[in-house]
Amino acid sequence: MPDLDSIVAQARTQFAAISEPAQLEEAKARFLGKTGSVTSLLKTLGGLPAEERRVQGEAINHAKQAIEAALALRRDELARARMEQRLAAEALDVTLPGRNSQRGALHPILRTQRRVESIFRSIGFDVAEGPEIESDWYNFTALNSPENHPARSMQDTFYVDASDSAGKPLLLRTHTSPMQVRYAKIHAAAHREHPEMAPIKVIAPGRTYRVDSDATHSPMFHQVEGLWIDEDISFADLKGVFLNFMRAFFEDEHIVARFRPSYFPFTEPSAEIDIAFSSGPMKGRWLEVSGSGQVHPDVVRNFGLDPERYIGFAFGTGLERLTMLRYGIGDLRLFFEGDLRFLRQFA
Ligand code: PHE
Repeated sequence: MPDLDSIVAQARTQFAAISEPAQLEEAKARFLGKTGSVTSLLKTLGGLPAEERRVQGEAINHAKQAIEAALALRRDELARARMEQRLAAEALDVTLPGRNSQRGALHPILRTQRRVESIFRSIGFDVAEGPEIESDWYNFTALNSPENHPARSMQDTFYVDASDSAGKPLLLRTHTSPMQVRYAKIHAAAHREHPEMAPIKVIAPGRTYRVDSDATHSPMFHQVEGLWIDEDISFADLKGVFLNFMRAFFEDEHIVARFRPSYFPFTEPSAEIDIAFSSGPMKGRWLEVSGSGQVHPDVVRNFGLDPERYIGFAFGTGLERLTMLRYGIGDLRLFFEGDLRFLRQFA
């Protein structure tokens, strides 16, 4: 009978020398596997007399348990060592300052646009968007500016190297007013089939273009068009709506407005709207903020409506102007230079 103690000691020595888990399993097989030394001993028991078999069996089983315990111990040691190695290798320095992700923010003009939209939504206006590349008809003719009319030169623009179905070159819209016609035409057509449909009550914000460039003009700028047409919409409604708009936008209940006679081909009568603040650095100065007027009967006809029955107002306001007044910005070019030192102030 081989010395069980020395087999156990051998197992312990071998296990202790191993650092790879796979090798540990191989070493285990040498003792406890099918042909392992302890297993072979167990097989010899059958040939022994009963009493000796009992004694030997017990001894071998003890040895077997000791080897299993040594194995479990080494497995644990190896697992712990591996874990410690990983912890050391993947250590995080939690004292390092974090990397800030750069969060974007709305451009001040878009901020103004959203603000205007929510004010008008709150009083039942729809918000519509239209194309920036526009046809001559929508931008001028439908708005009562016939070809060669001198009023067109007030709005010199950029032309696109393509033309519409009438063979007229397409252009970058000079104002949001073509949206009056686009929106009203669609709405009026639907209205004829569903007379119960609401009146035309819409704002149309967006980009506009003109050949203009200085501290207060940019070749690309933004406007918001307003249009309210029904059977009895008057200048009084324009005044009420516009004053409410200004007071809500600038958060000043005491803003006053005045209407100064003006000319636009698509409104008659026409007026510039000036406002004055009741306090702050601009206090008491009249500031021009919008063109406006009662929509011209010819334009109402182009909406597909009968001008004897439908009447209303339109206005067109520059969003840059509103933004400059709200934040006290002196140079409009700042909006489009992409200088983060400027833009971050609105984030
Ligand atoms: N479209 C005009 C402009 O850009 C403004 C305007 C809009 C005037 C609606 C009257 C009515 O100057």
